[in-house]
Amino acid sequence: MADQSLITKFLGYFGGETQGIRLFASPGRVNLIGEHTDYNGGYVFPAALTLSTTIVARPRQDRIIRLIATDLERMVEADLDNLPAYMGLPWGSYQLGVAHELIKSGYKVIGCDLMYEDKVPLGSGLSSSAAIEVATAIALVSLGDERFGKEKPIDSIEMAVISQKAEHNFIGVKCGIMDQFASAMGKKDHAIFLDCRDLSFELVPIKLSGYSLVIGNTNKKRSLGEGKYNERRSECERGLDILKKAVPEATCLRDVSLENFLKYGHVIEDVTIRKRVEHVIYENRRVLDSVAALKEGKLTAFGELMNQSHDSLRDLYEVTGKELDTLVNEARKVDGVLGSRMTGAGFGGCTVSLVRNDRIEDFKISVGAAYTKQIGYAPTFYVSEIGDGGRELSL
Ligand code: GLA
Repeated sequence: MADQSLITKFLGYFGGETQGIRLFASPGRVNLIGEHTDYNGGYVFPAALTLSTTIVARPRQDRIIRLIATDLERMVEADLDNLPAYMGLPWGSYQLGVAHELIKSGYKVIGCDLMYEDKVPLGSGLSSSAAIEVATAIALVSLGDERFGKEKPIDSIEMAVISQKAEHNFIGVKCGIMDQFASAMGKKDHAIFLDCRDLSFELVPIKLSGYSLVIGNTNKKRSLGEGKYNERRSECERGLDILKKAVPEATCLRDVSLENFLKYGHVIEDVTIRKRVEHVIYENRRVLDSVAALKEGKLTAFGELMNQSHDSLRDLYEVTGKELDTLVNEARKVDGVLGSRMTGAGFGGCTVSLVRNDRIEDFKISVGAAYTKQIGYAPTFYVSEIGDGGRELSL
Protein backbone atom coordinates (compact mmCIF):
# COMPACT_ATOMS: atom_id res chain seq x y z
CA MET A 1 0.00 0.00 0.00
CA ALA A 2 1.15 3.53 -0.82
CA ASP A 3 0.48 4.69 2.73
CA GLN A 4 2.71 2.00 4.20
CA SER A 5 5.54 2.84 1.87
CA LEU A 6 5.17 6.51 2.82
CA ILE A 7 5.38 5.61 6.48
CA THR A 8 8.47 3.50 5.85
CA LYS A 9 10.02 6.47 4.08
CA PHE A 10 9.09 8.74 6.96
CA LEU A 11 10.79 6.42 9.45
CA GLY A 12 13.82 6.33 7.16
CA TYR A 13 14.14 10.12 7.40
CA PHE A 14 13.14 10.71 11.02
CA GLY A 15 13.67 7.36 12.78
CA GLY A 16 11.61 6.46 15.87
CA GLU A 17 8.29 4.65 16.15
CA THR A 18 5.10 4.53 14.09
CA GLN A 19 3.15 5.54 17.19
CA GLY A 20 1.56 8.96 16.80
CA ILE A 21 1.89 9.02 13.01
CA ARG A 22 -1.05 10.56 11.12
CA LEU A 23 -1.66 11.26 7.43
CA PHE A 24 -3.17 14.36 5.82
CA ALA A 25 -3.77 15.42 2.23
CA SER A 26 -4.95 18.43 0.27
CA PRO A 27 -5.31 18.72 -3.51
CA GLY A 28 -4.31 21.05 -6.32
CA ARG A 29 -7.04 22.63 -8.41
CA VAL A 30 -8.01 23.41 -11.95
CA ASN A 31 -9.96 26.60 -12.51
CA LEU A 32 -12.72 26.08 -15.07
CA ILE A 33 -13.21 29.81 -15.60
CA GLY A 34 -12.87 33.13 -13.75
CA GLU A 35 -9.23 34.14 -13.89
CA HIS A 36 -7.74 37.11 -12.01
CA THR A 37 -11.18 37.88 -10.65
CA ASP A 38 -10.69 36.59 -7.09
CA TYR A 39 -8.58 39.47 -5.78
CA ASN A 40 -11.10 41.84 -7.38
CA GLY A 41 -13.91 40.49 -5.20
CA GLY A 42 -15.31 38.56 -8.15
CA TYR A 43 -16.47 35.07 -9.09
CA VAL A 44 -14.38 31.97 -9.74
CA PHE A 45 -15.29 28.39 -10.67
CA PRO A 46 -12.48 25.99 -9.68
CA ALA A 47 -12.51 22.27 -8.94
CA ALA A 48 -10.15 20.28 -6.71
CA LEU A 49 -8.04 17.66 -8.47
CA THR A 50 -7.22 14.16 -7.30
CA LEU A 51 -3.54 15.18 -7.52
CA SER A 52 -2.59 16.09 -3.94
CA THR A 53 0.09 16.84 -1.42
CA THR A 54 0.16 14.14 1.24
CA ILE A 55 1.79 14.73 4.63
CA VAL A 56 3.00 12.07 7.03
CA ALA A 57 3.10 13.77 10.43
CA ARG A 58 4.20 12.89 13.96
CA PRO A 59 4.28 15.10 17.07
CA ARG A 60 7.50 15.88 18.94
CA GLN A 61 8.06 16.77 22.57
CA ASP A 62 9.93 20.04 21.89
CA ARG A 63 9.24 23.26 19.95
CA ILE A 64 11.04 22.14 16.80
CA ILE A 65 9.35 21.57 13.45
CA ARG A 66 11.24 19.45 10.93
CA LEU A 67 10.27 19.22 7.26
CA ILE A 68 11.35 16.96 4.45
CA ALA A 69 9.91 16.10 1.03
CA THR A 70 10.14 12.70 -0.62
CA ASP A 71 11.97 14.27 -3.58
CA LEU A 72 14.40 16.35 -1.49
CA GLU A 73 17.58 15.44 0.33
CA ARG A 74 17.88 18.29 2.81
CA MET A 75 15.78 18.55 5.90
CA VAL A 76 14.55 21.94 7.13
CA GLU A 77 14.51 22.43 10.88
CA ALA A 78 12.91 25.46 12.54
CA ASP A 79 12.12 26.79 15.99
CA LEU A 80 8.37 27.36 16.32
CA ASP A 81 9.02 30.34 18.61
CA ASN A 82 11.13 32.16 16.07
CA LEU A 83 9.47 31.49 12.72
CA PRO A 84 9.96 34.88 10.98
CA ALA A 85 13.70 34.18 11.06
CA TYR A 86 13.15 31.47 8.43
CA MET A 87 11.53 33.64 5.75
CA GLY A 88 12.96 33.21 2.26
CA LEU A 89 14.10 29.60 2.53
CA PRO A 90 14.44 27.91 -0.89
CA TRP A 91 12.05 25.22 0.39
CA GLY A 92 9.90 25.18 3.52
CA SER A 93 8.58 28.76 3.56
CA TYR A 94 5.01 27.79 2.69
CA GLN A 95 4.89 25.37 5.59
CA LEU A 96 6.56 27.67 8.12
CA GLY A 97 4.47 30.60 6.92
CA VAL A 98 1.32 28.61 7.66
CA ALA A 99 2.62 27.62 11.12
CA HIS A 100 3.37 31.28 11.83
CA GLU A 101 -0.07 32.49 10.70
CA LEU A 102 -1.82 29.76 12.69
CA ILE A 103 0.01 30.84 15.84
CA LYS A 104 -0.81 34.50 15.13
CA SER A 105 -4.49 33.55 14.78
CA GLY A 106 -4.52 31.86 18.20
CA TYR A 107 -4.15 28.21 17.19
CA LYS A 108 -1.94 25.92 19.24
CA VAL A 109 0.90 24.52 17.14
CA ILE A 110 3.23 21.89 18.62
CA GLY A 111 6.63 20.61 17.53
CA CYS A 112 6.42 17.89 14.88
CA ASP A 113 8.12 16.03 12.04
CA LEU A 114 6.40 16.36 8.65
CA MET A 115 7.19 14.53 5.42
CA TYR A 116 5.66 15.82 2.16
CA GLU A 117 4.82 13.87 -0.94
CA ASP A 118 3.82 16.36 -3.65
CA LYS A 119 1.84 14.93 -6.55
CA VAL A 120 0.71 18.32 -7.90
CA PRO A 121 3.31 19.31 -10.50
CA LEU A 122 5.26 22.20 -8.94
CA GLY A 123 4.98 25.66 -10.50
CA SER A 124 2.48 24.45 -13.09
CA GLY A 125 -0.49 26.67 -12.30
CA LEU A 126 -2.38 23.83 -10.60
CA SER A 127 -1.91 25.32 -7.12
CA SER A 128 0.87 23.14 -5.83
CA SER A 129 1.56 25.81 -3.21
CA ALA A 130 -2.05 25.96 -1.98
CA ALA A 131 -2.05 22.16 -1.68
CA ILE A 132 1.04 22.34 0.55
CA GLU A 133 -0.34 25.22 2.61
CA VAL A 134 -3.78 23.78 3.25
CA ALA A 135 -2.44 20.28 3.99
CA THR A 136 0.01 21.86 6.44
CA ALA A 137 -2.69 23.91 8.15
CA ILE A 138 -4.93 20.87 8.63
CA ALA A 139 -2.02 18.73 9.85
CA LEU A 140 -0.73 21.30 12.35
CA VAL A 141 -4.14 22.07 13.84
CA SER A 142 -5.05 18.36 14.02
CA LEU A 143 -1.80 17.44 15.75
CA GLY A 144 -1.56 20.30 18.18
CA ASP A 145 -4.87 21.90 18.95
CA GLU A 146 -6.92 19.60 21.15
CA ARG A 147 -10.00 21.84 20.73
CA PHE A 148 -10.56 20.16 17.36
CA GLY A 149 -11.48 16.54 16.71
CA LYS A 150 -14.46 14.41 15.76
CA GLU A 151 -16.94 16.55 17.71
CA LYS A 152 -15.61 19.85 16.51
CA PRO A 153 -14.20 19.66 13.01
CA ILE A 154 -11.59 22.11 11.84
CA ASP A 155 -13.02 25.10 9.98
CA SER A 156 -11.78 24.43 6.44
CA ILE A 157 -12.60 27.92 5.18
CA GLU A 158 -10.51 29.39 7.97
CA MET A 159 -7.64 27.08 7.01
CA ALA A 160 -7.89 28.48 3.47
CA VAL A 161 -7.85 32.07 4.71
CA ILE A 162 -4.86 31.42 6.99
CA SER A 163 -3.02 29.74 4.12
CA GLN A 164 -3.66 32.77 1.93
CA LYS A 165 -2.28 35.03 4.68
CA ALA A 166 0.88 32.90 4.81
CA GLU A 167 1.32 33.42 1.09
CA HIS A 168 0.85 37.19 1.45
CA ASN A 169 2.99 37.71 4.53
CA PHE A 170 5.67 35.00 4.36
CA ILE A 171 6.05 34.49 0.61
CA GLY A 172 5.10 37.97 -0.62
CA VAL A 173 2.60 36.91 -3.30
CA LYS A 174 -0.63 38.90 -2.92
CA CYS A 175 -2.77 36.04 -4.23
CA GLY A 176 -6.55 35.85 -4.08
CA ILE A 177 -8.43 33.19 -2.13
CA MET A 178 -9.38 30.86 -5.01
CA ASP A 179 -6.59 28.28 -4.79
CA GLN A 180 -6.60 27.78 -1.04
CA PHE A 181 -10.41 27.72 -0.97
CA ALA A 182 -10.60 25.10 -3.72
CA SER A 183 -7.94 22.99 -2.04
CA ALA A 184 -9.68 23.15 1.33
CA MET A 185 -13.31 22.89 0.19
CA GLY A 186 -13.24 20.76 -2.97
CA LYS A 187 -15.74 17.94 -3.42
CA LYS A 188 -15.50 14.91 -5.67
CA ASP A 189 -17.16 15.49 -9.05
CA HIS A 190 -18.17 19.06 -8.17
CA ALA A 191 -16.82 22.48 -9.07
CA ILE A 192 -17.04 25.36 -6.61
CA PHE A 193 -18.87 28.47 -7.72
CA LEU A 194 -17.32 30.93 -5.29
CA ASP A 195 -18.10 34.56 -4.66
CA CYS A 196 -14.77 35.95 -3.47
CA ARG A 197 -16.34 39.08 -2.00
CA ASP A 198 -17.99 37.23 0.90
CA LEU A 199 -16.83 33.61 0.38
CA SER A 200 -20.35 32.33 -0.20
CA PHE A 201 -20.24 29.33 -2.50
CA GLU A 202 -22.21 26.62 -4.25
CA LEU A 203 -21.01 23.14 -5.18
CA VAL A 204 -22.05 22.47 -8.77
CA PRO A 205 -22.08 18.84 -9.98
CA ILE A 206 -19.89 18.49 -13.05
CA LYS A 207 -21.43 16.10 -15.54
CA LEU A 208 -19.73 16.37 -18.88
CA SER A 209 -21.59 13.58 -20.69
CA GLY A 210 -19.12 12.20 -23.20
CA TYR A 211 -16.51 14.93 -22.63
CA SER A 212 -13.55 15.39 -20.30
CA LEU A 213 -11.46 18.22 -19.00
CA VAL A 214 -7.94 17.64 -20.26
CA ILE A 215 -5.15 19.60 -18.62
CA GLY A 216 -2.17 20.47 -20.79
CA ASN A 217 1.01 21.44 -18.97
CA THR A 218 3.23 23.73 -21.07
CA ASN A 219 6.11 22.59 -18.87
CA LYS A 220 7.22 26.20 -18.78
CA LYS A 221 8.05 26.79 -15.16
CA ARG A 222 6.97 30.01 -13.60
CA SER A 223 6.96 31.59 -10.23
CA LEU A 224 4.43 34.17 -9.10
CA GLY A 225 7.12 35.65 -6.90
CA GLU A 226 8.65 37.09 -10.06
CA GLY A 227 6.39 40.10 -9.69
CA LYS A 228 4.06 40.07 -12.71
CA TYR A 229 1.22 38.73 -10.59
CA ASN A 230 1.47 41.49 -7.98
CA GLU A 231 1.83 44.01 -10.82
CA ARG A 232 -1.51 42.93 -12.31
CA ARG A 233 -3.12 43.19 -8.92
CA SER A 234 -1.94 46.76 -8.41
CA GLU A 235 -3.03 47.70 -11.93
CA CYS A 236 -6.54 46.58 -10.97
CA GLU A 237 -6.34 48.64 -7.77
CA ARG A 238 -5.38 51.71 -9.78
CA GLY A 239 -8.28 51.07 -12.15
CA LEU A 240 -10.67 50.83 -9.20
CA ASP A 241 -9.37 54.08 -7.70
CA ILE A 242 -10.06 55.92 -10.93
CA LEU A 243 -13.51 54.37 -11.44
CA LYS A 244 -14.48 55.25 -7.89
CA LYS A 245 -14.76 58.88 -8.98
CA ALA A 246 -17.75 57.84 -11.07
CA VAL A 247 -18.93 54.86 -8.97
CA PRO A 248 -18.08 55.89 -5.38
CA GLU A 249 -19.89 52.94 -3.78
CA ALA A 250 -17.55 50.37 -5.44
CA THR A 251 -15.24 48.64 -2.94
CA CYS A 252 -13.74 46.27 -5.53
CA LEU A 253 -13.89 45.92 -9.33
CA ARG A 254 -16.64 43.36 -8.97
CA ASP A 255 -18.88 46.18 -7.72
CA VAL A 256 -18.56 47.99 -11.05
CA SER A 257 -21.35 46.73 -13.29
CA LEU A 258 -20.86 46.22 -17.01
CA GLU A 259 -23.29 49.08 -17.60
CA ASN A 260 -21.19 51.40 -15.42
CA PHE A 261 -18.00 50.27 -17.08
CA LEU A 262 -19.45 51.00 -20.52
CA LYS A 263 -20.59 54.41 -19.27
CA TYR A 264 -17.51 55.46 -17.31
CA GLY A 265 -14.66 53.23 -18.52
CA HIS A 266 -13.29 56.08 -20.65
CA VAL A 267 -12.25 57.98 -17.48
CA ILE A 268 -9.37 55.48 -17.25
CA GLU A 269 -6.99 57.19 -19.63
CA ASP A 270 -4.18 54.66 -19.30
CA VAL A 271 -4.96 52.07 -21.99
CA THR A 272 -3.19 49.25 -20.13
CA ILE A 273 -5.17 49.83 -16.95
CA ARG A 274 -8.41 50.06 -18.91
CA LYS A 275 -7.67 46.74 -20.61
CA ARG A 276 -7.05 45.04 -17.25
CA VAL A 277 -10.33 46.34 -15.86
CA GLU A 278 -12.24 45.34 -18.99
CA HIS A 279 -10.98 41.78 -18.63
CA VAL A 280 -12.13 41.55 -15.02
CA ILE A 281 -15.58 43.00 -15.70
CA TYR A 282 -16.32 40.60 -18.60
CA GLU A 283 -14.65 37.60 -16.95
CA ASN A 284 -17.01 37.87 -13.97
CA ARG A 285 -19.91 37.72 -16.37
CA ARG A 286 -18.42 34.70 -18.12
CA VAL A 287 -18.30 32.85 -14.80
CA LEU A 288 -22.01 33.45 -14.20
CA ASP A 289 -22.81 32.37 -17.77
CA SER A 290 -20.60 29.27 -17.44
CA VAL A 291 -22.24 28.14 -14.22
CA ALA A 292 -25.65 28.50 -15.87
CA ALA A 293 -24.48 26.70 -19.03
CA LEU A 294 -23.00 23.77 -17.11
CA LYS A 295 -26.08 23.42 -14.94
CA GLU A 296 -28.13 23.09 -18.12
CA GLY A 297 -25.64 20.72 -19.76
CA LYS A 298 -24.85 23.26 -22.50
CA LEU A 299 -21.29 22.18 -23.15
CA THR A 300 -20.90 24.01 -26.46
CA ALA A 301 -21.83 27.30 -24.79
CA PHE A 302 -19.40 26.62 -21.95
CA GLY A 303 -16.62 25.80 -24.44
CA GLU A 304 -17.21 29.10 -26.20
CA LEU A 305 -16.92 30.97 -22.88
CA MET A 306 -13.65 29.14 -22.17
CA ASN A 307 -12.32 30.39 -25.51
CA GLN A 308 -13.43 33.96 -24.80
CA SER A 309 -11.77 33.83 -21.40
CA HIS A 310 -8.43 32.79 -22.86
CA ASP A 311 -8.58 35.40 -25.59
CA SER A 312 -9.26 38.09 -23.02
CA LEU A 313 -6.37 36.89 -20.81
CA ARG A 314 -4.16 37.01 -23.91
CA ASP A 315 -5.24 40.37 -25.35
CA LEU A 316 -6.47 42.41 -22.39
CA TYR A 317 -4.82 40.96 -19.28
CA GLU A 318 -1.66 39.90 -21.13
CA VAL A 319 -0.72 36.92 -18.98
CA THR A 320 -0.59 34.12 -21.54
CA GLY A 321 2.64 34.04 -23.58
CA LYS A 322 3.84 31.90 -26.44
CA GLU A 323 3.65 28.52 -24.72
CA LEU A 324 0.08 28.83 -23.41
CA ASP A 325 -1.16 30.39 -26.65
CA THR A 326 0.41 27.64 -28.75
CA LEU A 327 -1.13 24.90 -26.62
CA VAL A 328 -4.55 26.55 -26.77
CA ASN A 329 -4.37 27.29 -30.53
CA GLU A 330 -3.39 23.71 -31.32
CA ALA A 331 -6.07 22.30 -29.02
CA ARG A 332 -8.77 24.33 -30.74
CA LYS A 333 -7.80 22.85 -34.13
CA VAL A 334 -8.71 19.32 -32.98
CA ASP A 335 -12.11 18.01 -33.94
CA GLY A 336 -14.15 17.26 -30.80
CA VAL A 337 -12.66 20.11 -28.74
CA LEU A 338 -15.35 22.52 -27.52
CA GLY A 339 -13.04 25.03 -25.83
CA SER A 340 -9.55 25.59 -24.51
CA ARG A 341 -8.03 28.16 -22.16
CA MET A 342 -5.18 28.80 -19.78
CA THR A 343 -5.94 28.03 -16.13
CA GLY A 344 -4.44 29.70 -13.05
CA ALA A 345 -2.27 32.79 -13.01
CA GLY A 346 -0.77 32.35 -16.50
CA PHE A 347 2.82 33.23 -17.51
CA GLY A 348 3.33 29.54 -18.32
CA GLY A 349 1.71 26.69 -16.44
CA CYS A 350 -1.34 24.81 -17.69
CA THR A 351 -4.30 24.93 -20.05
CA VAL A 352 -7.64 23.19 -19.69
CA SER A 353 -9.58 21.93 -22.70
CA LEU A 354 -13.01 20.37 -23.04
CA VAL A 355 -12.42 17.32 -25.24
CA ARG A 356 -14.79 14.63 -26.51
CA ASN A 357 -13.81 11.35 -24.89
CA ASP A 358 -13.21 9.47 -28.13
CA ARG A 359 -10.82 12.20 -29.28
CA ILE A 360 -8.57 12.39 -26.21
CA GLU A 361 -5.82 10.11 -27.53
CA ASP A 362 -5.68 11.91 -30.91
CA PHE A 363 -5.76 15.21 -29.05
CA LYS A 364 -2.69 14.31 -26.99
CA ILE A 365 -0.77 13.11 -30.03
CA SER A 366 -1.54 15.94 -32.43
CA VAL A 367 -1.41 18.82 -29.93
CA GLY A 368 1.71 17.33 -28.34
CA ALA A 369 3.51 17.05 -31.69
CA ALA A 370 2.56 20.53 -32.90
CA TYR A 371 3.55 22.12 -29.57
CA THR A 372 6.87 20.31 -29.45
CA LYS A 373 7.66 21.39 -32.99
CA GLN A 374 6.97 25.06 -32.26
CA ILE A 375 8.27 25.35 -28.69
CA GLY A 376 11.14 22.86 -28.67
CA TYR A 377 10.05 20.64 -25.77
CA ALA A 378 6.99 18.49 -25.07
CA PRO A 379 3.89 19.29 -23.05
CA THR A 380 2.32 16.84 -20.59
CA PHE A 381 -1.37 15.94 -20.49
CA TYR A 382 -3.57 14.78 -17.62
CA VAL A 383 -7.25 13.90 -17.86
CA SER A 384 -8.48 15.68 -14.78
CA GLU A 385 -10.46 13.87 -12.17
CA ILE A 386 -12.25 16.04 -9.65
CA GLY A 387 -11.51 14.98 -6.08
CA ASP A 388 -12.17 15.94 -2.46
CA GLY A 389 -10.62 18.82 -0.56
CA GLY A 390 -8.15 18.80 2.36
CA ARG A 391 -8.66 16.12 5.00
CA GLU A 392 -7.07 13.60 7.33
CA LEU A 393 -6.55 10.20 5.69
CA SER A 394 -7.23 7.02 7.58
CA LEU A 395 -4.16 4.89 8.18
C1 GLA B 1 -3.18 32.33 -8.90
C2 GLA B 1 -3.63 32.91 -7.57
C3 GLA B 1 -5.16 32.96 -7.48
C4 GLA B 1 -5.77 33.61 -8.70
C5 GLA B 1 -5.18 33.03 -9.99
C6 GLA B 1 -5.65 33.76 -11.22
O1 GLA B 1 -3.52 30.98 -8.99
O2 GLA B 1 -3.11 32.19 -6.48
O3 GLA B 1 -5.54 33.63 -6.29
O4 GLA B 1 -5.63 35.01 -8.66
O5 GLA B 1 -3.76 33.03 -9.97
O6 GLA B 1 -7.01 33.60 -11.41
